[in-house]
Amino acid sequence: MPVPPARRRRGPRKRGGPGPFSPGWLLLLVWPLVAQAPPKPAPQTVGSEICQACHEDIYKAFQQTSHALVEKDRRHGWQGKACESCHGPGSAHAESGSAADIRNFAKLAPAEADRICLTCHLNQPTQVGRIHGGHARGQVACVSCHSIHKPRAETVTSAKAALINKNCAGCHLSSWAEFQKPHRHRLPEGAMSCVDCHNPHGSLLPRSLQTVSANEPGCLKCHGDKRGPFPFEHAAVRVEGCTACHQPHGSANPRMLTRHEVRFLCLECHSNLPVVAAGPGGVPPAFHDLRSPRFRNCTTCHIKIHGSYVDRAFLR
Ligand code: HEC
Ligand code: HEC
Ligand code: HEC
Ligand code: HEC
Ligand code: HEC
Ligand code: HEC
Ligand code: HEC
Ligand code: HEC
Ligand code: HEC
Ligand code: HEC
Repeated sequence: MPVPPARRRRGPRKRGGPGPFSPGWLLLLVWPLVAQAPPKPAPQTVGSEICQACHEDIYKAFQQTSHALVEKDRRHGWQGKACESCHGPGSAHAESGSAADIRNFAKLAPAEADRICLTCHLNQPTQVGRIHGGHARGQVACVSCHSIHKPRAETVTSAKAALINKNCAGCHLSSWAEFQKPHRHRLPEGAMSCVDCHNPHGSLLPRSLQTVSANEPGCLKCHGDKRGPFPFEHAAVRVEGCTACHQPHGSANPRMLTRHEVRFLCLECHSNLPVVAAGPGGVPPAFHDLRSPRFRNCTTCHIKIHGSYVDRAFLR
């Protein structure tokens, strides 16, 4: 684009007298305009085969990745130009071989990098919770989890739990530490992964939890026996959900409970047990005598603690 005549006319006035507000300063201000005349033409797309000439290894490896499909995408005009669908038009770089002339994701701001990925991925069902997700809010870019140039088998989409856990643990050290506690889900063994419970792309639930109801954070997918519906349900399970009593990652307490002893857990909500309301004359009834060790472990009697098909007090 030629420099507009109006700006060119300012030229002579620049050669004015000295001083802080002199036209000498103006020269600095308009310098970019002057320096850019004539401006470089905008880079054009050149096609992936041109990139191959200098990036043979990357080009070859790329053919094994999912994005090789883009090379056949006639509909959106990317046919033969997969490299440039992400890296942008490459004619200037192909000529200069200079890093300054090509888009490098590692040097982009996360929001800018994501915008490029989302030109193709925005309407996928997995991305619908994105704006609610901690990763979008926390500026965690797609490329901090996804390695585009690695073979799929070495990435988080390989469905290998160990690879996913390693990626997440890299930033979430304290969550990972919880999985080292004595009672826990078996993530360190690679039997499960973080995405069994969390959607890394965000979800409509807090903590980006999977599935649709707030009090059932994906747990019932594997613990279906706790689902019910029970004719005699424990309101705590239905209303407050699993995490009212369990630490989902891991715990020092057996059964991953939030309290060391079961009774302390129960008494958080049941402090008004019959025993506390003492019998006539202030003598506690034998029933639910909390001083007796027999009553310490509530679930020896209330065995169907998640809900019962037959008993109102979850005794069977
Ligand atoms: C003429 C050879 C040549 C061609 C053709 C070429 N590149 Fe490069 N490319 C290079 C060199 C050399 C570097 C390393 C530059 C440096 O590190 O300073 C590089 C670096 C890169 C980088 C990393 C930039 C960075 O900031 O580190 C990307 C991305 C890239 N090229 C993509 C492409 C794409 C996409 C194409 C095809 C459109 C392409 N290249 C075509 C020579 C080439
Ligand atoms: C889906 C988007 C995408 C496509 C398609 C893509 N790249 Fe990349 N490329 C990236 C990202 C993201 C990086 C940053 C490093 C990483 O995450 O692997 C990168 C990094 C690079 C680098 C720098 C490598 C380094 O070690 O620093 C080069 C060179 C490159 N790409 C070339 C290519 C070529 C050639 C093609 C086509 C065969 C291509 N890319 C296709 C996203 C893409
Ligand atoms: C030009 C469109 C386009 C762009 C830009 C693009 N993708 Fe893709 N992506 C695709 C297509 C097409 C597939 C293959 C879908 C399939 O296999 O059904 C894909 C697949 C994927 C997959 C699944 C990979 C797998 O192993 O199955 C991931 C993850 C992904 N893209 C991430 C990214 C990221 C991160 C970026 C930005 C750096 C990006 N994409 C940019 C079109 C694109
Ligand atoms: C915090 C890490 C993380 C971030 C950030 C992330 N992803 Fe993913 N993504 C994953 C994991 C892990 C999987 C595998 C999910 C699974 O196995 O259920 C995945 C799967 C995918 C898939 C394949 C499955 C599908 O939904 O079709 C695509 C495509 C994808 N991601 C694109 C993206 C894009 C685009 C972004 C950025 C907007 C992004 N991801 C950001 C971790 C992440
Ligand atoms: C590059 C670092 C990074 C990686 C990798 C990463 N996270 Fe995060 N994660 C963050 C940041 C930053 C936040 C936002 C923290 C905040 O909001 O306080 C976050 C927030 C979260 C949250 C809570 C907030 C929410 O609503 O989403 C969960 C759950 C989470 N990440 C799970 C994961 C999982 C699962 C993985 C692996 C698939 C993962 N993260 C990988 C950095 C990362
Ligand atoms: C068994 C299901 C499950 C697994 C597996 C799981 N999480 Fe969670 N995670 C949860 C639940 C449920 C919460 C919400 C806890 C709450 O609200 O009290 C949570 C909360 C979080 C939070 C929010 C901060 C916090 O500690 O409250 C982060 C971050 C997080 N998880 C990361 C991870 C990472 C990283 C992994 C894998 C190493 C992982 N989670 C595996 C169920 C799980
Ligand atoms: C992907 C399947 C899966 C999901 C999702 C899942 N679990 Fe588990 N859970 C298991 C398996 C398998 C075991 C048995 C582990 C073992 O024996 O080491 C288990 C064990 C447990 C235990 C007993 C631990 C012990 O020490 O005996 C509790 C409590 C538990 N899960 C609660 C939850 C909660 C709460 C959630 C949701 C936040 C959840 N689980 C989500 C698979 C899952
Ligand atoms: C009111 C507290 C409470 C709530 C809410 C609760 N649990 Fe439990 N859960 C317990 C107690 C107490 C035990 C230990 C029972 C025992 O001592 O035998 C237990 C044990 C377990 C066990 C291991 C033993 C078994 O029965 O399989 C699993 C798995 C489990 N809970 C999953 C869940 C899931 C999934 C949810 C949510 C749907 C949930 N719990 C909600 C109190 C609760
Ligand atoms: C988070 C709070 C909470 C915790 C923890 C809790 N409960 Fe409950 N429980 C409730 C609520 C709410 C009800 C319903 C009370 C009602 O309908 O009057 C209930 C009902 C019951 C009932 C049936 C009472 C009736 O009259 O139908 C029994 C039995 C019971 N809980 C035992 C336990 C035991 C044993 C524990 C410990 C393992 C426990 N609860 C832990 C909240 C809790
Ligand atoms: C020795 C067996 C046993 C133990 C141990 C036990 N309970 Fe009970 N619990 C019962 C029986 C029996 C009932 C009465 C059932 C009925 O009314 O049908 C009952 C009833 C209840 C009720 C319902 C009371 C009401 O108002 O109807 C609650 C709540 C309760 N128990 C909580 C607990 C808690 C908390 C603990 C542990 C501190 C505990 N129980 C330990 C046998 C036991």
